[in-house]
Amino acid sequence: MANKKPIRDVVKEIQNEYHIIGRENELGMMVIAHEAGKNILLEGEIGTGKTTLARAIAQKYDKNFLRVEGTEDLYSTTLIGTWQPPILIQKGYVEDAFEFGPLARAMMDGGCLFINEINRAPESTQNLLLTALDEGILDIPNLKRITAKDGFFTIATRNPASHIGVSVLGEALKDRFVWIKLDYQPEGEERAIVKIHTNCEDAKAIEAAVKITRATRKMKEIRRGSSIRGAIDIISMLMQVGIGEVWKDQQPWIDVSISALVTKIDVEEGIDKSPEEIITLIVRSVLNKKDFFQ
Ligand SMILES: Nc1ncnc2c1ncn2[C@@H]1O[C@H](COP(=O)(O)OP(=O)(O)O)[C@@H](O)[C@H]1O
Ligand SMILES: [Mg+2]
Repeated sequence: MANKKPIRDVVKEIQNEYHIIGRENELGMMVIAHEAGKNILLEGEIGTGKTTLARAIAQKYDKNFLRVEGTEDLYSTTLIGTWQPPILIQKGYVEDAFEFGPLARAMMDGGCLFINEINRAPESTQNLLLTALDEGILDIPNLKRITAKDGFFTIATRNPASHIGVSVLGEALKDRFVWIKLDYQPEGEERAIVKIHTNCEDAKAIEAAVKITRATRKMKEIRRGSSIRGAIDIISMLMQVGIGEVWKDQQPWIDVSISALVTKIDVEEGIDKSPEEIITLIVRSVLNKKDFFQ
């Protein structure tokens, strides 16, 4: 326990190095989990910063970390590696003829494997990972058995299981991870995120865009509201309109908000309003409430 850098100092370093706003508790937990030798599973809605945080931790602890995207065609062979037919024919089953995949390489190097959206990968791929993580062993048929070097770890992200197209992550696989949940961040932090992503100088515009975006998460007509990406897109587009222009009239706000948010929300079934109408109502109510337009 002695001689360790305090967790909060490590968290500050990570925030500074990777431009992360807030998330002190979650980053703290990630540091603790990693130092305890655990694999990390980050869970949260779209746009809550899973990829950003996972990438930061991966890079912090392994400058050469390997990243794979969980997709339905992420097969075991992609993770383990594949034989190269020309060399295989020439030299046979030798190491030269094998191109190691990211899981094999991370294990051999004692490095980090970052698996984004792991839940989208096929069950068979998840099972392979399970054994590799559990026993630290990976068998490459006809070649060799890899034993993970010290330092090997994985960090994975996933969307909550309630989403369509997301398979339930195997119970056993979950056992090998510690779980860290990301909720939406407080309003002030969301404003800071929009600012660093857009360089917008108009604090009032950022405030309004964040309020509009957050309001989509509260509407009973909306099943899934927008993440911070909505506010970032609203401000990015308004800056093209000319930020001075946009305080003359609400119409540009309505136009860009519809454009930014329609793709990022899911409206409840059986609602008699269109997404455009719902967004228009939200924009008007946010802009009318405060002294945004004097
Ligand atoms: N705490 C944060 N600090 C800075 N930027 C953030 C933070 N959280 C999210 N972002 C930004 O918001 C966007 C969405 O984050 P991302 O990590 O892609 O979310 P997810 O992987 O959960 O969908 C990105 O542009 C990211 O840079
Ligand atoms: Mg992501």
